[in-house]
Amino acid sequence: MDRALDLAALGMGRTSPNPLVGALVLDVSGRLVGEGFHAAAGRPHAEVGALAQAGVRARGGTLVVTLEPCSHHGRTPPCSEAVIAAGVHRVIVAMQDPDPRVAGSGLKALRQAGAEVLLGVRQRQAERLNAAFCHRLRTGRPLGLLKWAMSVDGRTALPNGASQWISAPESRDWVHRLRARCDAVIVGGGTLRADDPLLTSRGRRAIEPLRVVISRTLDLPQQARLWDRAAAPTLVAHGPEAPQRERQRLDGLGVERLELKRCEPLDLMEALALRGCNQVLWECGPALAAAALRQGCVQHLSAVMAPKLLGGVAARTPVGDLQLSSMAMAPAWLEQALSRSGDDLIWELSSPGG
Ligand SMILES: NC(=O)c1ccc[n+]([C@@H]2O[C@H](COP(=O)([O-])OP(=O)(O)OC[C@H]3O[C@@H](n4cnc5c(N)ncnc54)[C@H](OP(=O)(O)O)[C@@H]3O)[C@@H](O)[C@H]2O)c1
Ligand SMILES: [Zn+2]
Repeated sequence: MDRALDLAALGMGRTSPNPLVGALVLDVSGRLVGEGFHAAAGRPHAEVGALAQAGVRARGGTLVVTLEPCSHHGRTPPCSEAVIAAGVHRVIVAMQDPDPRVAGSGLKALRQAGAEVLLGVRQRQAERLNAAFCHRLRTGRPLGLLKWAMSVDGRTALPNGASQWISAPESRDWVHRLRARCDAVIVGGGTLRADDPLLTSRGRRAIEPLRVVISRTLDLPQQARLWDRAAAPTLVAHGPEAPQRERQRLDGLGVERLELKRCEPLDLMEALALRGCNQVLWECGPALAAAALRQGCVQHLSAVMAPKLLGGVAARTPVGDLQLSSMAMAPAWLEQALSRSGDDLIWELSSPGG
């Protein structure tokens, strides 16, 4: 199962809205005869690849798979049928598929066909690997990551506004790799106007993450690196209050627009889930970061901390007003990792609320 989990991870950043899945086939005598993983949405499922490699050697053998084989006709036929047809005797599964279209029916079909099914091997590791997929199915929203770079005195800019670059080159490279694991990267209108960001993984992801700007006013620059569709796709999300004139101007630039019911992080997250995003990265400034946090749209934080002092009483900080009135309302986030990146420290935390 450890090998199957490693195989599953090879699809990282390419399978959404699907989960990451890895599989192996052992023949009757326990020899490895087939391996597969889900490489991208629309491509064959992991089990199919592994069974194809194994061919007739799968008969009477064992399938080891990180997620319950599917039992519904999606873009590909159900894997449970393929497993049965291959004559596999035993199926070892890490976790049940939380997708309501499957949710145990794949396992049931296998058992009914006479296969021996063992569920729960390395379950925790499998759930962690697919945390984003599971979160989307449970909540109807993608898993939210929020990242910022700041000085050790908690500033994101000098008092005069200068902010590039606070973090070390190694950390900026780390951010590109983080983007490669996300289906969308989100900023607010403020960050677009201030920084003209590119927001790509610099080619580390086969299909660059969708770049999203959320703006109430649509007062966005005429020229911006985000408007260059050759670099990556961009979506501008706004509310019903967005001025018609600005909508038409963006349409004229060929930028894709999406009107939300309300111009709020929660509404955007629901829309992105419907577009198949499992995991998104908030790379916004303090106003939008605070709104996203208040609306429960952030499950993981990454604070990049540079050993620099920027000072200034009114200098910008990473997060705006969270509307907290007592320390009891600010529980400690849970440490996932603390690592060095050039001269910086990167502190990765997960929400105490899960
Ligand atoms: N250090 C870092 O890691 C980092 C990261 C990102 C940004 N920044 C800095 O942050 C600064 C920008 O700060 P900011 O707070 O203006 O940027 P922001 O949070 O990215 O953008 C705020 C904008 O988001 C839009 N928005 C849409 N719906 C919203 C909602 N429900 N709540 C709040 N905002 C909503 C509005 O755009 P409209 O005004 O267009 O309607 C609002 O002005 C820049 O100087 C940038 O350099 C730093
Ligand atoms: Zn399948």
